[in-house]
This record gives sequence, structure tokens and C-alpha cells, in this order.
Amino acid sequence: MKVLVIGAHGRTGQRVVKQLLGGKHMPVAMIRDPDQRAVFDEMGVPTVLADLEYPIDHAVTGCDAVIFAAGSGAKTGKDKTVLIDHVGAIRSMVAAAMQGARRYVMLSSRNADPASESKIRHYHRAKGHADAFLMKMDAVMEEPLDWTIVCPGRLTDEASKQCVSVSPEIDQPSGETSRDVLAEALVACLDEPATVGKRFALLDGETPLIEALRSV
Ligand SMILES: NC(=O)c1ccc[n+]([C@@H]2O[C@H](COP(=O)([O-])OP(=O)(O)OC[C@H]3O[C@@H](n4cnc5c(N)ncnc54)[C@H](OP(=O)(O)O)[C@@H]3O)[C@@H](O)[C@H]2O)c1
Repeated sequence: MKVLVIGAHGRTGQRVVKQLLGGKHMPVAMIRDPDQRAVFDEMGVPTVLADLEYPIDHAVTGCDAVIFAAGSGAKTGKDKTVLIDHVGAIRSMVAAAMQGARRYVMLSSRNADPASESKIRHYHRAKGHADAFLMKMDAVMEEPLDWTIVCPGRLTDEASKQCVSVSPEIDQPSGETSRDVLAEALVACLDEPATVGKRFALLDGETPLIEALRSV
């Protein structure tokens, strides 16, 4: 499959691209800054310029799947949290559906909830709204997606031990997820039918990754 990686230059996104390169699918890196092209040129990965605050249909055209690994980040204002993590994410789902990229894997977050009262509720609410749209997309569109929503804990740069814990309960008080294993999971979901139509927490743990994904 040709897989559009949204947020490809991010810390998780770059790992996703490399993971795809080592497997059977073909990545396309979506970036918004042309200066980031060099990283992908070196890897032989095609790039497409697009920004989640504007239409991205041209980026999705010709792709079979999307992995959403973008995010506004902690240093931007709450307006960007809404425009990127909420509205931008939904824009990408609608574009995927309309352009025929049927498989969609969302990097969400533990505690994503439209009614969140957490300390970073603007972020958790934005992610919760985006997840809710994806999970109920068939109520508003005739082209629903085969979706998976992966909700990690606090992201770290620890090396992957390729072992995780998964749970349908995404409201968890603590827990960490290595970006390495998260990227492996986002890519593995593409080929794991048991993950279609599922939202689950993914933390560093003791269960081999593929075995864990088959159990969700
Ligand atoms: N940090 C945590 O502990 C944690 C926990 C749970 C979930 N998450 C989620 O995981 C995501 C990925 O984490 P990370 O550490 O890999 O993030 P990251 O390194 O900050 O990467 C985020 C990527 O999103 C891109 N992006 C931002 N705005 C965009 C826009 N308008 N259009 C297109 N792309 C845009 C950025 O592009 P530029 O390079 O152009 O800025 C960057 O490449 C986070 O955004 C968050 O939603 C994080």
C-alpha cells in the first residue's frame, strides 16, 4: 500500500517513515516546510507539501492508507490545538474518505475525551473530538474508513523493546510509550485486521507487540 504519513518530519513521524521503508508498504511523507525535504530525499521517500490548516486532498490522492502522526505541540496556542489536532485531523479523515484512502490509523492520546477536565483539557478535548468523529464517521459519510486509533502514554525516546500493554480503557493515570514501539505499532496496525474499528491504549509493557495487537 502507498501510505501517506501526516506529520512525517516529527519525532514519531520519522520513525513511522523508516518503519514503513523496512516493510512492504511505500511511504509518502507529508510535510509543510520545503526545507524538510532533504531528510526524505536521502531516504528515497517521496514528499508532498500540505498543511492541515488548509485542504490536503492533493496529498491524499493516490494513497491507499493514512497514518496521522501530526500534532500542534505544546508550544503553540490553544487555537492551533483546535485547528490542527481537532479540525485538521477531521479534515484529513474526510480527505482520506473522499480520495479512496480507505485505511486510516490515528495517533491519538491516552485520556482523549471531548469532556476532559484534565490539566491539558484543551488538548485532550481536541483529540477526543477527532477520535469521536472517526469512530462515528459512518453516520455522516457514505465512505467510512477502516480506522484504528492508538492512544499512547507520555512519549519517550527509549529504544523499543517491542513489547507493550494494550487496553480498551484509554483513561489511564500514568504510563509511558516509546516513540520507537509506537511507530512499530502504527505501521503494524495496517496489516492487523483485529485492530480495525478499535481504539486502545498502548503503553510500554510485557506482551510482544503483534500478539498484543491481535488481542485488542
Ligand atoms: N508528547 C507526548 O507525550 C504525547 C503523548 C500522547 C500523544 N501524543 C501525540 O503524539 C503526537 C506526535 O508526537 P511527536 O513527539 O512525534 O510530535 P512532534 O515531534 O512535535 O511532531 C509533530 C509533527 O506534526 C507536524 N505538524 C504540526 N502542525 C501541522 C500542520 N498544520 N500541518 C501538517 N503537519 C503539522 C509538525 O510539522 P513541523 O515539523 O512542520 O512543525 C511535526 O512534524 C503529538 O502531536 C501528540 O498529539 C504525544
